[in-house]
Amino acid sequence: MAAARGWLRKVAALAAALPGGGGPGRAAAPGPAVEPAPEPVQQAAAPATAALYVHWPYCRKRCSYCNFNTYVVRALDEAAVRACLVREAQTLLRLSQVHRCVSGVRSEWALLRPSVPTCSSPPSACSVSSVFFGGGTPSLASPGTVAAVLEAVAGAAHLAAAAEVTLEANPSSASTSRLAGFRAAGVNRLSIGVQSLDDAELRMLGREHTAAEARQAVEAARGLFPGRTSMDLLFGLPGQSRDAWAQRLEAALELCDDHISLYQLTLERGTALAAQVRGGALPAPPQDLLADMYETARNVLVATGFRHYEVSNFARKGALSTHNLSYWRADEYIGVGPGAHGRFVLRGEGGCSREARVQTLEPVTWMREVQSHGHGTRSRAVLKPLEQLEELLTLGLRTDEGITHERWGHFSPQLSLQDVFGEPGEARALQQSGWLVLDSGGLRCTWAGLAVLDSLLPDLLWQLQRALGAARCPPRDKEGRDAEAVSGNDGQ
Ligand SMILES: *[C@@H]1O[C@H](CO)[C@@H](O)[C@H](O)[C@H]1NC(C)=O
Ligand code: SF4
Repeated sequence: MAAARGWLRKVAALAAALPGGGGPGRAAAPGPAVEPAPEPVQQAAAPATAALYVHWPYCRKRCSYCNFNTYVVRALDEAAVRACLVREAQTLLRLSQVHRCVSGVRSEWALLRPSVPTCSSPPSACSVSSVFFGGGTPSLASPGTVAAVLEAVAGAAHLAAAAEVTLEANPSSASTSRLAGFRAAGVNRLSIGVQSLDDAELRMLGREHTAAEARQAVEAARGLFPGRTSMDLLFGLPGQSRDAWAQRLEAALELCDDHISLYQLTLERGTALAAQVRGGALPAPPQDLLADMYETARNVLVATGFRHYEVSNFARKGALSTHNLSYWRADEYIGVGPGAHGRFVLRGEGGCSREARVQTLEPVTWMREVQSHGHGTRSRAVLKPLEQLEELLTLGLRTDEGITHERWGHFSPQLSLQDVFGEPGEARALQQSGWLVLDSGGLRCTWAGLAVLDSLLPDLLWQLQRALGAARCPPRDKEGRDAEAVSGNDGQ
């Protein structure tokens, strides 16, 4: 039991490792200590690009359900925050220097051996594939700040004209003129925090806006960013009935563009809403109703032409979020701003290992650090091969494409998906239950599996750990032949 709980905690910790996921309530619990398998893990064919996340850590008022890393301050020195965002973006882009590792296959594990030379190719210019301004409420920043950050990115790296540049906006700071300012600054995609189209629900959520204001914001955004306006919606609110949810969804469908993100409301410890539910002032939504709401939404959206391309995300006419896809595909990403997370290789320092980075959470401390060191990185850790594969599995299975053989091979050239999950074991059992598919396309969830992904992951992570452990310490036969066969792969 204890082991099972350990894995569940691990799943939660991995999920919290997304760039905006650095809320104080989401500190990652340490998972079980697991030694890496000794097989070399080459970097994902040295991707020449990275996605960039920029965290704006301020809101006008804290919503009742929110435990994100956000702050309500009376007087904000925006020029100082802007200067720090610009400086940190420049520093991290220089450190990451996304370019091709000319020396080709590098071994993570080999880096732990002093005799193996590190990557020595000279850094070239970085290419940024997408930028995402999240928060907090980044639509409270002035368009000038967004422009300054984008100019810094374009100055330090290659930022293609077609790169997706998303800004999260709240309806209370999304007038047509503000949105036009963001567009002029270089933003080309908008994600609007509508959450609900019912005034009573919005009040319960502690949102600053009414349903009418949310509608106006979406319409203004669609006028300026046609085909590139996304809408966030919450379901599973305390007391929300199945019918009420179906009505919200219908209203949202009349209003929406080609992308919708649906999130089940979670009652996070320490939030006002969780306290109200715990105190009995509001009812807790029953589990079976939540599952029913999710399924209803999926059916309705798929029937209206949306592709359910990730657990919480729906797009039609190909309007998938390329920025977020890069997280789910375990590409490299750089996180700028208080509490931002990143995963990238420090090629600018001659490194070849994928690192996990977290920036300092609290904005005033973060700014002091950026002013004195050029960046406010609070923690850095080289990800072990097993950790990289755990992330790839946990995030990749969230998408409808799943984990392709090619992507898996970038992180695990020695042990294929088939080697790890094709043998009799957990994955085979999940396939037989109709939750998982392993075929020529790779490993992915069925629709039914996607709905219960969190309960499938502990088994799969366990199987992965076993497979890597076995590769590391193979059972010896009398002549030691097995052990030799495996260790023969080692030094490559
Ligand atoms: C995309 O990523 C950003 C940054 O991490 C996050 O804030 C946002 O919720 C994500 N959106 C989707 C559609 O998953
Ligand atoms: S607007 Fe978003 S980040 Fe700000 S308090 Fe509300 S939920 Fe939290």
